[in-house]
Amino acid sequence: MSTAVQGKTVLVTGARGGIGQALVKAFLEAGAAQVIAADRSEPAQRSGDPRVRHLVLDVTNAQAAEQAAAACDVDVIVNNAGANGNCGLFEGEADQARREMEVNYFGVLNMARAFAPAMKKKRGGALVQVLSFAALSNIPAMGSYSASKAAARSLTQALRAELGLFGVQVVGVYPRVVDTAMSAHLPIAKTTPEDVAQAVLAALAAGQDEVYPGNAAAAHEAFLRDPAAVERDNAKRLPRSSLAATEVEA
Ligand SMILES: NC(=O)c1ccc[n+]([C@@H]2O[C@H](COP(=O)([O-])OP(=O)(O)OC[C@H]3O[C@@H](n4cnc5c(N)ncnc54)[C@H](OP(=O)(O)O)[C@@H]3O)[C@@H](O)[C@H]2O)c1
Repeated sequence: MSTAVQGKTVLVTGARGGIGQALVKAFLEAGAAQVIAADRSEPAQRSGDPRVRHLVLDVTNAQAAEQAAAACDVDVIVNNAGANGNCGLFEGEADQARREMEVNYFGVLNMARAFAPAMKKKRGGALVQVLSFAALSNIPAMGSYSASKAAARSLTQALRAELGLFGVQVVGVYPRVVDTAMSAHLPIAKTTPEDVAQAVLAALAAGQDEVYPGNAAAAHEAFLRDPAAVERDNAKRLPRSSLAATEVEA
């Protein structure tokens, strides 16, 4: 199953975020007829492109997702909205993990439940899930975020199985570290949001189930060779509080 985006209507959630903006631009450049830029509040600046339609949509609100689905005839949904407390399991606010699960897992499920029935009826279309390499192997410095993305990865597999029967393509996207606000505090090599957007377009065109943009490709190869070694390596990426405690005890 492959998806050509030319002449199609694409909806991107979290559209004003770093990767969201790159996705909107890339879909317009690829010839989409309309890009619905969905954000959880009104954008400070509206796009000047007549093909961009702004939509206020909090993906954690199942009813709002249903209303959006009733109002928009969409060919491709990009579940890009994401929340990351960037903290360990014993840091941050008590409900941080719940918030990440609400956006990263239930948000994706809300969107799928709202929009998939029309896609099934049309026997086509695509769901693109912006997951994370952390879905494959937990990074303790963002432990509950990683767990929420692992849940979303499992959900993606179920969606692929169910919707594939109806000709709907489901693509899992597994970036590693991308140069956006979410990872601004990490002083390491980053993939650009534009590279992620191009990888999404290429995966849709090629009918791929999964894509590992930029520096995630080499990380994925290492994971396939030796998942336990990747887990041991990730285990060194500890939250600040644990690192501080170890230094005190040492
Ligand atoms: N940056 C990375 O290193 C990296 C790596 C792997 C995967 N990812 C994933 O890539 C996706 C995009 O992230 P990004 O890097 O572009 O981060 P970002 O710049 O922080 O963008 C995240 C976007 O999600 C939106 N959002 C959060 N909660 C929402 C909700 N309940 N409903 C609708 N929108 C909501 C945010 O809106 P507000 O502005 O209103 O908060 C923001 O527009 C996420 O799924 C993230 O987990 C990022």
